[in-house]
Amino acid sequence: MHSPYALCKGSKGKPRLSYDWKLMLDQGRSRAYLDTWRAMERLVDTGKTKHIGVANFNARKLRCLLERARIKPAVNEIELHPYLPQTELLEMCREAGIHVIAHQPLGGPIVYPVFPTDDDRPLENPEIEKLANRNRRTSAQLILAWLTEQGVTVVPRTTRVIHLYENSQLKRVPSAAMAAMSSLSRSKGARRVPWIDEYFESQVFGDGKDPWTTRIEMMLEGRMPPPEYL
Ligand SMILES: NC(=O)c1ccc[n+]([C@@H]2O[C@H](COP(=O)([O-])OP(=O)(O)OC[C@H]3O[C@@H](n4cnc5c(N)ncnc54)[C@H](OP(=O)(O)O)[C@@H]3O)[C@@H](O)[C@H]2O)c1
Repeated sequence: MHSPYALCKGSKGKPRLSYDWKLMLDQGRSRAYLDTWRAMERLVDTGKTKHIGVANFNARKLRCLLERARIKPAVNEIELHPYLPQTELLEMCREAGIHVIAHQPLGGPIVYPVFPTDDDRPLENPEIEKLANRNRRTSAQLILAWLTEQGVTVVPRTTRVIHLYENSQLKRVPSAAMAAMSSLSRSKGARRVPWIDEYFESQVFGDGKDPWTTRIEMMLEGRMPPPEYL
């Protein structure tokens, strides 16, 4: 199940947008993820699939699902990178025997390169760069290895062969570097990729606004192009 929420249907198969171009949530269907899970359990019962899993489930929703599910999710695919270490959720999945997959492990692609700042994404973070240099790795390699050492599967995306190769050459991260990476988000607070909460009319993940609100404001003022899917 890609997300524990549902979008309102718009025209031509696209999601419906609010007056300020945000994706609208279908509140009724968003509450029905347990029904979706039951339908997925029937797929296992009838032999159509061996394993079923979820994505973007926070601790509260996962607990709710675990209390009622007949079949436990095999995986939870969640946004996970040094700016969003999700320690509690990771621990909860570990205890429940649910494998975690990190999506956007490098902090996602640059969506609007309007305000490129030093630490706009984990990949450009100077502290990560320093740690990576000290340990003879690239920032991407350090980030990915920091995740895999925590038992997490990573699904980085790239359009470049050189990055594909680089991302497959991971080495163990010394414990001091692991600890430094894990503490990175403490000073600034955990935050999601620059657009995720801004594209929904209401908070989908329930973890507060991130500092990229300005990007959407600029889009609304016509100072940057609207997102590609519009
Ligand atoms: N389940 C969900 O809700 C969900 C949500 C979002 C994404 N995902 C999945 O997560 C996966 C990754 O997501 P994503 O593409 O958004 O984020 P990502 O993998 O964290 O970041 C991709 C960006 O990193 C760059 N990159 C990759 N390797 C690099 C390297 N070695 N050095 C420097 N830059 C590097 C890529 O640029 P280049 O092309 O130039 O290398 C691209 O701009 C995808 O498979 C996606 O489908 C799942």
